[in-house]
Amino acid sequence: MAKKRILTGDRPTGKLHLGHYIGSLRNRVKLQDEYECFFIIADLHTLTTRPEKTGELAGNVRDLVFDYLSCGIDPEKATVYIQSEIPEVAELAVIFANLVSVPRLGRMPTLKDVMRDAQIKVPSYGLLGYPVLQSADILMVKGELVPVGRDQASHIEITREIAREFNKLYGEVFPVPKALIPADVGTLPGIDGRAKMSKSAGNVINLSDDTDIVRKKVMGMFTDPNRIHGDEPGEVKGNPVFTYLDVFAPDSAIPSAMEQVEDFKERYLKGTVKDVEVKEFLVEVLEGFLQPLRAQRKKYEKSPEIVERVLNEGTKKAKEEAQKTLTEVKRAMKLDYFK
Ligand code: TRP
Repeated sequence: MAKKRILTGDRPTGKLHLGHYIGSLRNRVKLQDEYECFFIIADLHTLTTRPEKTGELAGNVRDLVFDYLSCGIDPEKATVYIQSEIPEVAELAVIFANLVSVPRLGRMPTLKDVMRDAQIKVPSYGLLGYPVLQSADILMVKGELVPVGRDQASHIEITREIAREFNKLYGEVFPVPKALIPADVGTLPGIDGRAKMSKSAGNVINLSDDTDIVRKKVMGMFTDPNRIHGDEPGEVKGNPVFTYLDVFAPDSAIPSAMEQVEDFKERYLKGTVKDVEVKEFLVEVLEGFLQPLRAQRKKYEKSPEIVERVLNEGTKKAKEEAQKTLTEVKRAMKLDYFK
C-alpha cells in the first residue's frame, strides 16, 4: 500500500527552540519513516505580518534548515522546500479564496491572536487570507495528514472545508486532510513561566543555544513564585523547571534520571531541596539532549552547501507534484479551455 502523505511546515522567522522540538520536530522525525513527508518553508506566510522584513528571509531559511537537519529530519526521506519557489501554491490560493467567506476568515481565533501579538489593528487582505494560503500548501501536494500543534487546528478545519467545497463544485480532486495533533504533549511553557515558549515573548531556549546560554537561561528560570527560600515547601505543579524535567528526563541518557526527578519533586514539596540544585540537574538533562544536536549542526555548518542541495532537490520534487495537481485542478474547473 502506498504511504500516506504528510504535509506540514514552518514560517522562517528565526531559530527554532525547545517548544518547536517538543511540539512538532520530534514527531516529524518519527513520521518521516512511516509516511511520505513534505515540509514546506512558508516564506510567503511571513509577509502577512512582516512585509517589510523580507531581507531576513535568506538567513532565517538557512537557520531553519540547519535546525531541521540537526534534529534528524532526513532529506533522503522527507521533501523540504520553499513555498515561494512554487508559484503554483499562490495560484491555487487565488482559486481557493473564492470558496471561503470573509466573515468565516474574520472569526479565526488565530487571526485575533496574531493581531494582538503583532499589534496589528486592521488585518490586511493577505493576513485575512493566511489560512487560505495554508490550505493551498496542504492541498497542493494532496496532503492527507497534517501534523500541527493545537493552535493550528482551526486552519486544518478550513482546509477541510475548502477541499470539500472544491470537490463538490468541480469533482473529486482533493483528499480531505486530517490534523494530527499530538495528544500526549501540552505546550512547553516559557522560561518565564508563561504558558507558551515563543520567540516574540523572548522566553525561549533555542536548539542552537550554547552551553553557557542554556545554563544562564535555566538559572534565571521562573519556579514557584511564592517560594522565597530553599527550605520552604514549594509547588511542583505548574513549576516550569519540573515541567521541563518531566518532558526531557524520560529520554535522558543520565542513569536513573526519572528517579532523580521523583526524588527532587518529593523534596521540593517538603522544602528540602533548593531551586538551584534542581536547576543544575535540569541543565545536565538539557545539555544531554542539546549536545548531540550541536555536534550535528557543526558538521553541517562545515559544508553549508548542503542547505542549497536539500532545498533544490526538495523544490524540484514539490514542483512536480504542484504542476500535476494544478493541471488536474484546471481540468476539473474547465479552466484549461484556452489550450
Ligand atoms: N501556519 C503554520 C504555523 O504558523 C505554518 C504553516 C504554513 C503550515 N503552511 C503550513 C503548517 C501548512 C502546516 C501546514 O505554524
